Amino acid sequence: MRRRGIFITLEGIDGTGKSTQFRLLVDSLRRRGLTVCATREPGGTETGEKVRGILLASKTRRLAPLAELALIYAARAQHLEQVVRPALARGEIVVSDRYNDSSYAYQGYGRKLGVEAVRAFDRVVCGATQPDLTLLLDLAPRKSLDRAQGRETRRNSRHGRFEAQGLAFHRRVRQGYLEIAKREPRRVQVVRVGRPIAEIQAEIEGLVDEFLRQHLGIFLI
Ligand code: TMP
Repeated sequence: MRRRGIFITLEGIDGTGKSTQFRLLVDSLRRRGLTVCATREPGGTETGEKVRGILLASKTRRLAPLAELALIYAARAQHLEQVVRPALARGEIVVSDRYNDSSYAYQGYGRKLGVEAVRAFDRVVCGATQPDLTLLLDLAPRKSLDRAQGRETRRNSRHGRFEAQGLAFHRRVRQGYLEIAKREPRRVQVVRVGRPIAEIQAEIEGLVDEFLRQHLGIFLI
């Protein structure tokens, strides 16, 4: 399938306000008349949402890290085939709340499976379908965990398995993300959070605008 669209991902540890910024970005692109495919991982398809249920439910016990990784890439393979690649082929802007970098950060660094294990899946499942622009929302894990766990208590939702991981886990995940950003500074833009939502929103829109300005001619005509 020939690729014409643009692939933007939002990443970050739990509790950075990523999903709020995701919605704001999607709304702002749509208001400008752009066709946006808004999606998320794990999830984005019926099968993927079922896998998400398994991955996030606190009641899922004794899931081996490699089984977790394989499930995530199973959901991703479905998501790519059913949603992401067709939308890119139609020339849409795909905005995904999490993608491949989450697996490097959470499974590679957080679960200590290492970069090579993740890369093996990445090569086979994602291949050339990599994000053009990634916005990495960055916050010190202690603050983000307070936010994430407060949210869990309030909503009693099913995000427990990752957010229940301690500070050391989230520090490794953050470290993983920052190393990715260092390796790929053109693709990955680090956006510091822990400040008013509107300020973060403005910075993200500025980065996306600049990216679209540079790439519009190449991708969207
Ligand atoms: P969310 O709360 O941002 O929707 O993310 C759900 C959780 O899934 C989050 O704690 C991180 C985790 N996750 C991974 O561990 N690896 C992955 O590849 C993805 C996409 C998510």
